[in-house]
Amino acid sequence: MAEKNEEYVIIKAKEDGVNVIGLTRGSDTRFHHSEKLDTGEVMIAQFTEHTSAIKVRGHAQILTAFGEVESERK
Ligand code: TRP
Repeated sequence: MAEKNEEYVIIKAKEDGVNVIGLTRGSDTRFHHSEKLDTGEVMIAQFTEHTSAIKVRGHAQILTAFGEVESERK
């Protein structure tokens, strides 16, 4: 449940128009939410009962409990 999940993922956009996309949990994996970030904007998100995966499109810095990774532009 969202309230019990202490872990957050931090996404900081390094260019305009970065998309943070939430994918559904369960047998049906599909997009359920897309958030657009411009340069310097930050999104702090969790994995929840609704969200099993997060896709980042565009250039962003991503911080997780596993470490830091940078997504790149196509
Ligand atoms: N309503 C979504 C949920 O509770 C909100 C959300 C949580 C979300 N984490 C996300 C949306 C990551 C996009 C990406 O699952």
